[in-house]
Amino acid sequence: IRVLSVASECTPLVKTGGLADVVGALPAALAGVGVRMRVLLPGYPAVMAALEGARRVLRLDDLFGGPATVVEGRAAGLDLVAIDAPHLYARPGNPYLGPDGRDWPDNPERFAALSWVGAMIGARGLDGWRPHVLHGHDWQAGLMTEYLPGLGGGPRTVLTIHNIAFNGPADPARIGALRLDPWRFHAEGYEFWGAVSALKAGLMGADALTTVSPTYAEELMTPQFGMGLDGVMRHRRHALTGILNGIDEDAWNPAADPAIIPYRDPAGKAAARAALRAEMGLPEAPGPLSVVISRMTHQKGLDLLLEVLDDLTAMGGQLAVLGSGDPGLEQAFRDAARAPGVAVRIGYDEGLSHRMIAGGDAILVPSRFEPCGLTQLYGLRYGTVPVVALTGGLADTVINASPAALARGVATGIQFAPVTAGALRGALARLGGLYADRETWSRLQRNAMAQPVGWAASARAYRDLYAQLTGPG
Ligand code: ADP
Ligand code: GLC
Repeated sequence: IRVLSVASECTPLVKTGGLADVVGALPAALAGVGVRMRVLLPGYPAVMAALEGARRVLRLDDLFGGPATVVEGRAAGLDLVAIDAPHLYARPGNPYLGPDGRDWPDNPERFAALSWVGAMIGARGLDGWRPHVLHGHDWQAGLMTEYLPGLGGGPRTVLTIHNIAFNGPADPARIGALRLDPWRFHAEGYEFWGAVSALKAGLMGADALTTVSPTYAEELMTPQFGMGLDGVMRHRRHALTGILNGIDEDAWNPAADPAIIPYRDPAGKAAARAALRAEMGLPEAPGPLSVVISRMTHQKGLDLLLEVLDDLTAMGGQLAVLGSGDPGLEQAFRDAARAPGVAVRIGYDEGLSHRMIAGGDAILVPSRFEPCGLTQLYGLRYGTVPVVALTGGLADTVINASPAALARGVATGIQFAPVTAGALRGALARLGGLYADRETWSRLQRNAMAQPVGWAASARAYRDLYAQLTGPG
């Protein structure tokens, strides 16, 4: 089966979050189960610079306001197709934000162009290569299904929802500029609360919808999590499945991680923890060292953590935080770092993220919603016990240390609900208790390390979905 994956980010070339990791991991994961996946990306400077053996395969005189070339090549082990369109993508740094930290005003056109080229390759092929399935990710690929009929149709379509909070809005005055059919600006088409929504278009139009965990798939159909699109999700419930994300088990392997002193069992974490304490300026402490690696946004619930910091340190615990995002949260964490036992690094640091996962005793993920979440999976693999909100992928990937699960010896972490400061405080108290019981604690760690967190099962699930869509033969 041939699949063109269409996305706005891809590890290791351009990344703002877990979406990039998933897009970057799928091709290798799927190669093992008989799927040939190529990835279509905007030709950001980092993408164009990384392309090896680049070959121009298509020229477009006018791609939403300027000429463009479609280029194929390899980068970081991936089979890439990039859209070299300087008027849209030759901008350094974050793929979505200008230097002022705001969305580029032409983001609707920039990603409409991505969707357009995706649809064109789907309908007409690229240099003789024709995908059976177009697999788009998030709103940036949402308009593919609007363009496909006009370009000749052809392949089946899948849209994966990584985060429904971003619906890709545009002013209806841009319908013409976005090359959309004005007659489809209605509730059954791409209209959403009076605006154009690229995500809505894809949610209505794709043959199959997936999201990145079974629980989030259910949650999406409820007003609490649907962000206004829950009605659309209920309408399309038969097309929707949840397929859990995996992690890159080579990049995240405690036994062979170049960023740390490697270890194979929980006892080996002591050296990593000592090194992390030294690096973060934290003294020895009797309680657990908790870590957080996260975008700092409302989604991630880190404001709740600020509310319970005193409780965490009062029980002898410590906290190390790595993240960036919302300026108010960044400042609040900088301030919090004045307390003893709390260390904060504002910024993005891949190496430090590995040292923190290895050196922490627990990893905290108090998200208000979490389609899947990857850092709790890293935690599992490294024997760093996840303490997570009971939502989305966090609900699906952690086995809560309930009395029953402890008795049966299957627990891998701690879950709490509702997502409030009070419940988080309770979870931290449970963490302290479990940590103090050395035998139970090391059992938790060993269970965590033994839990499968790779792509094997989910790669088969995607393959089966593609096969089902394309039918026999
Ligand atoms: P989301 O995509 O919502 O941000 P995920 O948990 O799916 O959440 O993915 C986040 C990814 O980004 C993980 O790979 C995590 O390690 C990484 N990450 C987030 N913040 C940082 C940071 N400040 N430094 C290094 N890596 C980070
Ligand atoms: C989104 C979600 C996150 C998920 C990631 C990859 O950014 O917020 O939960 O893990 O996409 O699918």
